[in-house]
Amino acid sequence: VGDGLRVGVLGCGNVGAALCRLVVDHADIIQARAGTALDVVAVAVRDIGRTRDVPVAADVFTMDPAAVVQDPTVDIVVEVMGGIEPARSLILDALAAGKPVVTANKELLASHATELLAAAEATGVDLLFEASVGGGIPLIRPLRESLAGDRIRRVLGIVNGTTNFILTRMTEDGSPFGEVLADAQRLGYAEADPTADVGGHDAAAKAAILASIAFGAQVVAEDVAREGIAGVTADDIASARELGYVVKLLAVAEEEGGAVAVRVHPAMVPVSHPLASVRDSFNAIFIEGAAVGQLMLYGRGAGGGPTASAVLGDLIDAARNLRGGSRGATIGTLVRKPVRPLDELHSRFYIAMDVADRPNVLSQIAGVFGRHEVSIESVFQKGLGDEARLNIVTHTAHEREMRAVLAEVRELDVVDRVQSVIRVIGDDG
Ligand SMILES: NC(=O)c1ccc[n+]([C@@H]2O[C@H](COP(=O)([O-])OP(=O)(O)OC[C@H]3O[C@@H](n4cnc5c(N)ncnc54)[C@H](OP(=O)(O)O)[C@@H]3O)[C@@H](O)[C@H]2O)c1
Repeated sequence: VGDGLRVGVLGCGNVGAALCRLVVDHADIIQARAGTALDVVAVAVRDIGRTRDVPVAADVFTMDPAAVVQDPTVDIVVEVMGGIEPARSLILDALAAGKPVVTANKELLASHATELLAAAEATGVDLLFEASVGGGIPLIRPLRESLAGDRIRRVLGIVNGTTNFILTRMTEDGSPFGEVLADAQRLGYAEADPTADVGGHDAAAKAAILASIAFGAQVVAEDVAREGIAGVTADDIASARELGYVVKLLAVAEEEGGAVAVRVHPAMVPVSHPLASVRDSFNAIFIEGAAVGQLMLYGRGAGGGPTASAVLGDLIDAARNLRGGSRGATIGTLVRKPVRPLDELHSRFYIAMDVADRPNVLSQIAGVFGRHEVSIESVFQKGLGDEARLNIVTHTAHEREMRAVLAEVRELDVVDRVQSVIRVIGDDG
């Protein structure tokens, strides 16, 4: 250990271990870009007995993360252990002690960003969290700094690699959801308990952080209307293809008239849209700004290496600022803005339903749509014995009206079941 800045790392799992390796492997560029060396002087873990493939001396490990934060010789704290507590208290303690903090913790940022950012403002130190959304993809810094002068209208993101991998395999192999999920679990692309990914919870946390940064608003994961991909069928994907779309799990954050709207759901995206070409476990964020227009950031949204790259970028930033006695760009304090409920939002819809294959069925169904002023753009019907599969695409309609249409349609004798309802993102982006 030399005379560089002294870094305390909380957690040495996928991300922490990759970070410890990068700090050694990239020592030359750290020195050049931070104007100082970085020395990892303490690493907190849960199990000190585990052997770890990291270039860190054994006596650097501890099972007491609070001691790392309180150590007066630790200059900067990196939190890569995850979870809400004790991560939250440790970060607040570090900030209160005037120590810059770098974290990758999306769960924490998605629930406590307001409190953490206020604490960083209060003591005037850096709190950086590039890795919390999109892993290795730089997007917090572009939103906060490069686009600081623009008014962001909408952010559309593919922010969960597992679900994008599953939807890509369903699209390219024509396999059903259950089969692809089982394969993904076998290959290590999906967790044994896939709920957080498949149910859209992980994407919702990231959507909350993106909305907070893009709009400077207090948005937490609970504000995000959420629907996962478990209901997407091979049929939906085939229909999407026939209509010129691909199905993606999208995080959508919008600001209009001072109110924000944030949601996560499967969506049909036109094949011509840049997000349609984001395959496998890749992530991408598509941003629409008033002056900049449309832009997209694409890359590896997870994994130890990509995530550690983002953490190290933040660490270098914090180190350079600390050495210079300054502080990086901030988004300031998050302000409360009204969050528009899902019911008030509008989009186009694709609906697949099984109906009786007899005359006048279509007119009964169309009548229900008409009564709620949901106008139909196109209808396709395929016979399936004495049943028929009806695929309807609507023009832009309110969620509330669409819900009313579906409730009424389900009551019709001629409708056996509504199989799928998927929102359609327009060709205008
Ligand atoms: N993995 C990714 O691709 C990725 C991408 C973006 C963001 N992130 C975020 O990065 C963070 C870390 O993720 P990860 O995948 O590296 O997790 P991980 O592999 O589970 O590692 C967590 C580490 O934290 C340690 N730890 C947990 N609780 C602790 C406690 N109470 N006291 C001391 N040490 C504790 C663990 O110790 P032991 O090793 O002894 O168990 C382990 O070393 C999470 O917030 C995650 O959301 C991860």
